[in-house]
Amino acid sequence: MKKMLLVLVALAVTALLQAGVCAAEQTAWEKGGPKWLYVTPTKKPPHHGVYDEKMKCLDCHSYDGVDAYTSATMAMKKSKKGTAPRKEIEEAVLNTLKGKGDYREIYALATSYENKPLATVIEFVIDPKTFTFYAMSEKQTEKLFQMASNQNVSLAYMKQRENYDYFGSALGVQIVGKATVLQGTDPEFETAARIYIPTLPMPAPNPTMPQPPSVDMLIEMIRAGKIITKVVPERIVIMNRGFKEKGYHAVQILYPGEKK
Ligand code: HEC
Repeated sequence: MKKMLLVLVALAVTALLQAGVCAAEQTAWEKGGPKWLYVTPTKKPPHHGVYDEKMKCLDCHSYDGVDAYTSATMAMKKSKKGTAPRKEIEEAVLNTLKGKGDYREIYALATSYENKPLATVIEFVIDPKTFTFYAMSEKQTEKLFQMASNQNVSLAYMKQRENYDYFGSALGVQIVGKATVLQGTDPEFETAARIYIPTLPMPAPNPTMPQPPSVDMLIEMIRAGKIITKVVPERIVIMNRGFKEKGYHAVQILYPGEKK
């Protein structure tokens, strides 16, 4: 009995010490971010998104110990109600990023080097089967050095506003993932090029080249001079006001790597 008491006392002391350590950490950087960044859920606005009946305001409007830094988006994941089926989210993403039918679109690509972010305007092609993104660049551009040193990237696609109706018809896609910078000698370069090249405008007719030039020929032309960037998305967030008409949240989240 005495032994057990000792163990209990020891456990309590350890817990107290740990709490002390946590408190010290907390002063360095507020755990869960500053409180004033959270919504104070006193009154629910009429345009508030739907959620499961049993949920409380604070389930979404406070730090849950897991995910503070993406709080607004992640709060959506906590409610079944309002979440679109995966297939519908996939379709909406592809529909938004389909370009002129070639799945080629213009994005802002965010990279970072020594904790300093850089956003670059760049065309990517999404492979509709895998949701992998491919871009081709000249060598020696800033973003390539950034991605070679840090694979963590984010992409944003945004529909530009029309007729001052941004909030009515807002449509955007945010991607978080890992980038791999491929040179011509990488085995993956060719696989990537076969997806990317058919979306390129063809070179002007010239006597040394059959018309249209074959993809194989074009791959050899770019192999030495170009770099292909492949981005494998971990999370894709789509904001589409159109979802609301179906009773879903305007924001939906897709994890392409997750098993179906
Ligand atoms: C399922 C998660 C969830 C629950 C439960 C929830 N909210 Fe929210 N709430 C959100 C999200 C997500 C936002 C959107 C943040 C944003 O993008 O503006 C939000 C926004 C708000 C806003 C700000 C709206 C604005 O336009 O500025 C208020 C106020 C609010 N909620 C109050 C409440 C109250 C009160 C309750 C409980 C009765 C509640 N919420 C329950 C997820 C939730």
